[in-house]
Amino acid sequence: MGSVTCNPLAPSSLLLLTGLKSPKLSHSRRRLPGSLRASKVIAYYGLKTPPYKLDALEPYMSKKTLEIHWGEHHRRYVDGLNKHLEKGDILYGYTLDELVKATYNNGNPLPEFNNAAQVWNHDFFWESMQPAGGDLPKYGVLEQIEKDFGSFTNFKEKFTEAALTLFGSGYVWLVLKREERRLAVVKTSNAINPLVWDDIPIISLDMWEHAYYLDYKNDKAKYVNMFMNHLVSWNAAMSRMARAEAFVNLGEPKIPVA
Ligand SMILES: [Fe+2]
Repeated sequence: MGSVTCNPLAPSSLLLLTGLKSPKLSHSRRRLPGSLRASKVIAYYGLKTPPYKLDALEPYMSKKTLEIHWGEHHRRYVDGLNKHLEKGDILYGYTLDELVKATYNNGNPLPEFNNAAQVWNHDFFWESMQPAGGDLPKYGVLEQIEKDFGSFTNFKEKFTEAALTLFGSGYVWLVLKREERRLAVVKTSNAINPLVWDDIPIISLDMWEHAYYLDYKNDKAKYVNMFMNHLVSWNAAMSRMARAEAFVNLGEPKIPVA
């Protein structure tokens, strides 16, 4: 969320990047030399840093895991996305959320989709955790979980079951469903995320092997348990829910009294 680092540039910045020396050239209709006509902006997205130090989640998620997962895998997705975007500027100026939805292309993904979604997924995953996380959600989030799942324990069981029954690589999410106006647990394969169905993600857990193998080997149950008890950021969930409520009314509609 908010991970786009390069919004559409002002014409003057664009000139600097494309190597045009004088604004006069862009305003005139003069024919440009071939090298200038072919030039375009080549960097779109940057590698966003997790909101804590790489050793801050220890002992539940090691610094080594973060160095590889963030520093190598996440970085590769960013580089891969930018490489794809260099090939044409048709997707220029999209926010990352828009890019994920547009390149999903109603279930017929464009070549940019996997990298775009994986950049979004990792930005979101890092922010779904915090040092000394876990415990119980607070205020509205807890109330909504209890309303939609019966109890917090039921929610935890459902989330864990989804993680352990996910076939292959993917993610488990707590989402707010716009139409049903309720929270739900969903799992997605590979790079897919719930934005493509217009759900609002609240929390995610990366179930790709690179997320847990160094620390937990094949013990996925232990990984999920540690995430739930020590890492999940209910603070992030709370602010995401607050934002989501601008779009989804979770109570009875209130009519302002004049
Ligand atoms: Fe990952």
